[in-house]
Amino acid sequence: MPEIAAAAADVEALYRARTPGSARLYAEALKVLPGGVTHSNRYWAPYPLHIDHASGSRLTDVDGNEYIDYGVANGTMFIGHANAKVTDAVSAVLRRGSHFGMSHELIGKLAAKVVEMVPSAEQVRFTNSGTEAVAHSLRIARGYTGRSKIARFEGTFHGVIDSLHIGFRSPFNRSDCSGIPPGAYADTLVCPYNDLERTAAILRRHGGELAGVILEPISGVIAAEQAFLRGLRSICDELGAVLIYDEIVTGFRMARGGAQELAGVLPDLTLLGKVLGGGFPVGAVAGRRGVMDVLDPKRPPETRVEIFGTYSGNVAAMAAGLAVLAQLDDGQPQRHAARLGARLAVGMRDIFARHGEQAVVNQIGCLVQVYFGLDKAPRDHREEARSNTARRRLYHMALITQGVFCKPGSEGRVSAAHTDADIDETLNCLEYVIARGMHRA
Ligand SMILES: Cc1ncc(COP(=O)(O)O)c(C=O)c1O
Repeated sequence: MPEIAAAAADVEALYRARTPGSARLYAEALKVLPGGVTHSNRYWAPYPLHIDHASGSRLTDVDGNEYIDYGVANGTMFIGHANAKVTDAVSAVLRRGSHFGMSHELIGKLAAKVVEMVPSAEQVRFTNSGTEAVAHSLRIARGYTGRSKIARFEGTFHGVIDSLHIGFRSPFNRSDCSGIPPGAYADTLVCPYNDLERTAAILRRHGGELAGVILEPISGVIAAEQAFLRGLRSICDELGAVLIYDEIVTGFRMARGGAQELAGVLPDLTLLGKVLGGGFPVGAVAGRRGVMDVLDPKRPPETRVEIFGTYSGNVAAMAAGLAVLAQLDDGQPQRHAARLGARLAVGMRDIFARHGEQAVVNQIGCLVQVYFGLDKAPRDHREEARSNTARRRLYHMALITQGVFCKPGSEGRVSAAHTDADIDETLNCLEYVIARGMHRA
């Protein structure tokens, strides 16, 4: 298919011509960073952009190119880059010290705000990242139940925990990451997303050993159906297992109380990160008092779950979290972003239809994703995996050359800082790319 190679070569040539500064910095980075990056998913061919600064909904790279940003820094910057209230709060508090490694007022204040906003949260333990929150939740579930097995779902992502690093990419039955001993998966059950019957059979087969069930209530841009969540809730109750929602992406973003507020089905534990820190490293496990109680250091060792973390409760992260949640408390920014997400999706569908492009656009609130080659919205990641992901990557690269950034292959995340004018400009760029067939891989 020579036209494919030509389209890809044209886009790459354009990308290279616009970004010589990123190319130079990448060449330098290659000397000292494996693969030139410090995050396995921050590389894309031919080299990643290097960013100079960011503000609101916009990124500017080292060559002075400006982008409307739909990556929003791994999903963290829901209230916009360089948000003045976050920056001011952090700057003010840093004058008193950056980290005490001891209790201080902001930890309790932020926990109280999380409890107020997240429907199922009664107690909170802070971490420095989403991955740590996931790891801790597994230990809490195991400590609470005295059991070992954890059920996860095909295609969902939960950070870099060894035991969960299986089943999240097609063909969903193995790990595609070396360095993890096979024994790490001994207590992991991989279940089909949105398929209650098959999931229930797996969970019941291991009922007496099941400590917890972990899932993203919205995974990528695929939502767990309400009946599925209700079914999981009742099976966990029946088996005495802990239901864990990984809301590291969806927390505070989909609504004031996250995806659980929209679904109306509550977990025992909720994992938070990303939006909460407003760009500062923070994560949290929030949950029912009865379960979270296992963390109480005053319990006897045989019933106590221990979790440490030098930087947990870091002053800057706590101050940032408070400034973020104060701005998200009335749910208005979330509604604004969701309205723009809907506008973007409608515009995308119109452009694809007018140009005869077979593509499905999923949109849930502010999250938007395109699946080339599908004729109906995927209900799970197996269906998603049938879409033309190479075309999606090229489409994102082509958009980057026109000033719209979405990490190649990833979903778009509209933030509260985006405007109607951003959506108009994005759709104009998209029209340009699709009309010229720049995405045709
Ligand atoms: C759903 C989900 N869970 C967990 C994580 C891990 O969070 P972190 O990268 O902060 O460790 C991520 C990160 O992208 C995520 O998307």
